[in-house]
Amino acid sequence: MMFDALTVLPSDPILGLMKLYRADPNSHKVDLGVGVYKNNEGQTPVMQAVTAAERNLLAKQTTKTYLTPLGNPAFVEYMQQLIFGSSLMALEGRIAAVQTPGGCGALRIAAELIKHANPKASIWLSNPTWANHKPLLGDAGVPIKHYSYLSASQTTLDWPAMQAALESIPAGDVVLLHACCHNPTGVDLTFEQWQWVAQTAQAKGFIPFIDMAYQGFGDSLAADAAGLRHIFAAVPEALLAVSCSKNFGLYRERVGLVATLCATAQQAQAAQSHFEGIVRGIYSMPPNHGAAIVAEILQDTSLTQQWKTELTQMQQRIQNLRNDFVRNMDALGVQGFDFVNQQKGMFSYLGIHAEQVAWLAQHKSIYLLSNSRASIAGLNQDNVSYVCEALAVSLNQA
Ligand code: LMR
Repeated sequence: MMFDALTVLPSDPILGLMKLYRADPNSHKVDLGVGVYKNNEGQTPVMQAVTAAERNLLAKQTTKTYLTPLGNPAFVEYMQQLIFGSSLMALEGRIAAVQTPGGCGALRIAAELIKHANPKASIWLSNPTWANHKPLLGDAGVPIKHYSYLSASQTTLDWPAMQAALESIPAGDVVLLHACCHNPTGVDLTFEQWQWVAQTAQAKGFIPFIDMAYQGFGDSLAADAAGLRHIFAAVPEALLAVSCSKNFGLYRERVGLVATLCATAQQAQAAQSHFEGIVRGIYSMPPNHGAAIVAEILQDTSLTQQWKTELTQMQQRIQNLRNDFVRNMDALGVQGFDFVNQQKGMFSYLGIHAEQVAWLAQHKSIYLLSNSRASIAGLNQDNVSYVCEALAVSLNQA
């Protein structure tokens, strides 16, 4: 039988943990696993700007007929303005872009385009990186390699090691960089470091590929895109994958965008035709609903304002939770967790062993990834002291 050849795969490290958390009957359980925003009640609410946009769409919609492989044209247009800001004008005509099913779809379509353009190219990922980067990009058939990123403490950037690694990347290879809120570590590049990456990409001939899944969750919409805007202004060719899951709270609607910067308008036209051909050959076109919501928000000044206010509230809440966490650890007399305050976005590595992570799940119903990545958004005023006390105890385990 054909399917005799298949064996059961291990569960996904992030979505598998989400299942374990949901199955745990303990009413004090804490989910620091999957990267979704949660409010103080532990819920992931629909943003009010999204609900208002959905109401408008329902009233206006006249058809459900097919889109094209490009997706929702207004979405593709408004998203580029959001991502590039005023630097978009200088890139006019050199960008190819299509709407994708989430940031995952964007990453995969980008990998397929790399294969069309240069089958010899490898993609270099930071060590560590998001657990799904390798399957998404590698399963497209592009070889995957790794560059150094974290210092031995697992809490700060090893900049000299990263520089040395990038300097040795062959011309024509692709280097994936997280625009902001590095997943899984929360350790980001400074603007000066982005400038160095741009210069080195030009000097060495590697192609920067930026993954931006958290615009607005680090410092602000503009600050979180500053590195990528600089890269796109400085180099002739670059790639970009964007997700609207977190900053529009549209997780299950699967909304994203893939874009590429080309050296000339003619090359951009060719890349656009390849993007659309690849999409047609895999899923024909992306679903409309989530992208239509984003376009509706971004084309309306008051909805945009409302969305930005809600996004800032989420960003500030996570920053406050980082402060609360460090304060609680200090109060317990446990030193060495101040780094959590310096990091950005949803995640931090807590720097504990897999055995200690397992102990927290088994004895305290606190779930984080085995590499000690904690989704800070899963903390709240009611559980932060419980988590810190359990963490302090776990440090004496194993
Ligand atoms: C995460 O890193 O937890 C999120 O990006 C969700 C996912 O799909 O892994």
